[in-house]
Amino acid sequence: MAKARDTRTNDAPTGPRHVAIIMDGNGRWAQARGRPRLFGHHAGARRVREIVTACPDLGVKYMTIFAFSTENWKRTQTEVAGLMSLFRRYIMKEMQDFVKENVRVRFIGDRPRLDAKLRALMDEAEQMTSHCTGTNLTIALNYGGRDEVSRATRRLAEDVASGRLKPEDVDEETLPKYLDTCVLPDPDLVIRTSGEARISNFLLWQSAYAEYEFIDTLWPDFTKEVFTELLKGYGARDRRFGAVTA
Ligand code: FPP
Repeated sequence: MAKARDTRTNDAPTGPRHVAIIMDGNGRWAQARGRPRLFGHHAGARRVREIVTACPDLGVKYMTIFAFSTENWKRTQTEVAGLMSLFRRYIMKEMQDFVKENVRVRFIGDRPRLDAKLRALMDEAEQMTSHCTGTNLTIALNYGGRDEVSRATRRLAEDVASGRLKPEDVDEETLPKYLDTCVLPDPDLVIRTSGEARISNFLLWQSAYAEYEFIDTLWPDFTKEVFTELLKGYGARDRRFGAVTA
């Protein structure tokens, strides 16, 4: 099979520059051990560091992870509160290390619904790592693809209404500038763990030409070795972006 290459640029065979991950299976991982679901989320949080740390060696420059969706509020109050507390503690605990490892942290999603303490920590983490030039870690928190496109469209409509943007200038180049991901390249590879083959409202616009990997491994079992194997599989893909190659 031909090696993965980007036919938009005729680049040499390459690994994915941007990997996005739907980290699924924490609950089942915990249940299999007779433990509460939050135990699985804590184990999942520990995996994040291992995978982000592996990125430079694997040539992955951008990593975007789905931590909490706009639909996850429907979970029990105990689980939602536990996850929010985990996010706060995670940011407080990990940020110094991310700075040391030159990881730039960003958040995407709708922030106003998150509590003020968490939002302040998110702002602080973004500021603290704003000079970092290594891996770009983007954490999707209260994120939904449809919600993001709706918010972007609202702001775009405001710009049209005020005359800052002409309707005829709205195209595939303009709209993504209003998305939360405006400074990021599109994902090359989207991975979902835990055996579910759906995208659950994640990066809908951005993943139009992404490759997908749906794997059975539960997120807390997703090691650097599993990640490395997946990336080898990506290297064997032929990405044509709708074009025909010779
Ligand atoms: C899906 O598993 C996972 C989540 C909704 C939460 C993801 C959060 C983490 C991996 C940990 C924290 C992340 C950071 C960045 C600190 P699930 O609960 O739906 O699992 P299940 O399908 O087995 O029930």
